[in-house]
Amino acid sequence: MTDQTKDRVLIFDTTLRDGEQSPGATMTHDEKLEIAELLDDMGVDIIEAGFPIASEGDFRAVSEIAERSKDAVICGLARAQLPDIDRCWEAVKHAGKPRIHTFIGTSPLHRAIPNLTMDEMADRIHETVTHARNLCDNVQWSPMDATRTEWDYLCRVVEIAIKAGATTINIPDTVGYTAPRESADLIKRLIETVPGAPDVVFATHCHNDLGMATANALAAVEGGARQIECTINGLGERAGNTALEEVVMAIKTRSDIMPFTTGIETKKIMHISRRVATVAGFPVQFNKAIVGKNAFAHESGIHQDGMLKNAETFEIMRPEDVGIAGTSLPLGKHSGRAALRAKLKELGVEVGDNQLKDIFVRFKELADRKKEVYDDDILALVSATADEETDSLQLVNMSVHCGTGGPATADLEMEIDGKEVSATSQGDGPVDATFKAIRMLHPNAARLQLYQVHAVTEGTDAQATVSVRLEEDGMIATGQSADTDTVVASAKAYINALNRLVVRREKTGKDVKEISYKDA
Ligand code: KIV
Ligand code: ZN
Repeated sequence: MTDQTKDRVLIFDTTLRDGEQSPGATMTHDEKLEIAELLDDMGVDIIEAGFPIASEGDFRAVSEIAERSKDAVICGLARAQLPDIDRCWEAVKHAGKPRIHTFIGTSPLHRAIPNLTMDEMADRIHETVTHARNLCDNVQWSPMDATRTEWDYLCRVVEIAIKAGATTINIPDTVGYTAPRESADLIKRLIETVPGAPDVVFATHCHNDLGMATANALAAVEGGARQIECTINGLGERAGNTALEEVVMAIKTRSDIMPFTTGIETKKIMHISRRVATVAGFPVQFNKAIVGKNAFAHESGIHQDGMLKNAETFEIMRPEDVGIAGTSLPLGKHSGRAALRAKLKELGVEVGDNQLKDIFVRFKELADRKKEVYDDDILALVSATADEETDSLQLVNMSVHCGTGGPATADLEMEIDGKEVSATSQGDGPVDATFKAIRMLHPNAARLQLYQVHAVTEGTDAQATVSVRLEEDGMIATGQSADTDTVVASAKAYINALNRLVVRREKTGKDVKEISYKDA
């Protein structure tokens, strides 16, 4: 028997592996631990914590996530090679419930990469899954690019993996190529025809290249899959993976036609969505289903009228079910520490006493400049205070002069490794002048890949959140900050990204994926 009841769908989150693999979404070690804890707390069944052989950093992260895990199964990824599988086991074995996930590309295009015949590949699958199963009772096997693999061959290799001891068979739509009906049919065919299939869990892993990842995953469940692989905010390579919040809320909202359940505490969705967006440096698009800023906004007159009379007129889900607090009152400059603590609790944010002190100081500064401090402002403050204590580069003071008909000038004071330094620079606009001054104080070869500004709330006194993504020598780091002054937020975000590059260089050496998962 498998570890599921008939209608329970297991949620396998791969934000920390497939999501983090997305260029620019690299997270620091501490951020990975934080996200893993939030996933565990929200009821994710299986957390794919990383790809242990890819780098020292990945190995350390998977090991520590495994050690700290509570209820979730902790899974690591391994190519179909014995040293990969051994390394993966070394990392996940610390978990209460460890899992090894091994994979190989089975489609004609992927078979050509290691230049294996169909028979040779079948032998490799048998050997590697057997090896994994000798190490761990819980083994997941994936035929990468399954949806472009000949169905007969797919049935053959799935049977081999089951006989070799795999307990979960995952069917990846690696390039986002399938469509809902085909997705359901493929799973159904495998379950109906492969010997041993009823004894294992079938999983679906969809990419969103054609915008069908959620639909394909749900169709696979209708075809018999009982594990959905997904990421928070749909983070992932190219167009991303199936979004956790979408499949979970679809199953919850339409249980009348999809008689399944998940173990996710949906009220925790919004908080984790915001944290992942912040730490990965991938802001959520405004009209993104479930977690977008506009997902529950009803602005047109006719909608507002209907909503006031009866929320169900236009709302199929309640905002509070995904953790969006109802019409809670904004804080202001007279709000005290207790009110701030209560607000953080309401927003699902847990902070220690020291962080609360820090957030409170910033909250007071903000409340002096801004009449009403909204929930989104508070969340932006929390994100901004997360990792500043240990930063070697800090902004001390700045002023910018700009106007029509001339270059802008930025005067900057920074503390670098405990020493105060200052510089003045001119540039094409205030942000350019500021970044140039920072580069004068901390010379570096980092290339600016992305610079993005978003208003946190409405009004001209709104805070701006700025995201900056830098690339240096193959290493990518993102920084974020928020301030009512867009140029100050830009300086802080840039410095934040530089700090991450410094940490990456110093602590983990070259913490880039030295091995591509496509080399399987
Ligand atoms: O998309 C994919 O095929 C993958 C596998 C490694 C499961 O992420
Ligand atoms: Zn994938």
